[in-house]
Amino acid sequence: MNRRQAIGSIAGAVAATAAATRITHAKAAEKPALAPVAPGAHKPAPLPFNAAKLQGLSEKLLTSHHDNNYSGAVKNLNAVELELDKVTKQTPGFQVAALRERELTYANSAFLHERYFENLGGDGKPAGDIAKALSSQFGSAGRWEEVARATAMSLGGGSGWVVIALSPLTNDLRVVGTSGHAPALAAGTPLLVLDMFEHAYALDFGAAHAKYIDAFLANVNWAVVDKRWQAARK
Ligand SMILES: [Fe+2]
Repeated sequence: MNRRQAIGSIAGAVAATAAATRITHAKAAEKPALAPVAPGAHKPAPLPFNAAKLQGLSEKLLTSHHDNNYSGAVKNLNAVELELDKVTKQTPGFQVAALRERELTYANSAFLHERYFENLGGDGKPAGDIAKALSSQFGSAGRWEEVARATAMSLGGGSGWVVIALSPLTNDLRVVGTSGHAPALAAGTPLLVLDMFEHAYALDFGAAHAKYIDAFLANVNWAVVDKRWQAARK
């Protein structure tokens, strides 16, 4: 092979590599297809763990929470979606507004409950890249927990959610506390979800919500939280 042929061969190989890289990048950039659920067709997800095996949270509490509160939210979400499906331009605005308010409440309740149950069933030991990211952003391994606990304590005796969310709008991790289902961080991706409604703990702990927060943190499945973090960062 002479010099010209060698250069041509190398150029060909480089071009082929570049083309392959473009194809790979194009594939990576492809968005997954939308997967809409038909109005009224949401189904409750089963508990993702053996409810008898969690430490400090009873089977009775967990199954009652899942079967009544969470499943009730899914049922109500389905019902309100079917009503919204009948909306026309003649439907009074106040009726549409009421339906939309209920839709958001039931949707957030259903989706947050799903993430709450999903992030239980572990050993409560922060691990993975998400643990490093939390320590890095909050300044120490314990600081994010101190802030999250304080937020949860502020909701004790009432209702609400504590969510550690990734905000793609500000590119940071945020501790969110809400007193109901409907408020949420705009575009925030929930990574760790704690239910602070009294129904989440009163059966086991009465009004002692601090003990419930301890039990929750001791059962967090950090592998699930880290998986959400990895997916959100893509
Ligand atoms: Fe709940």
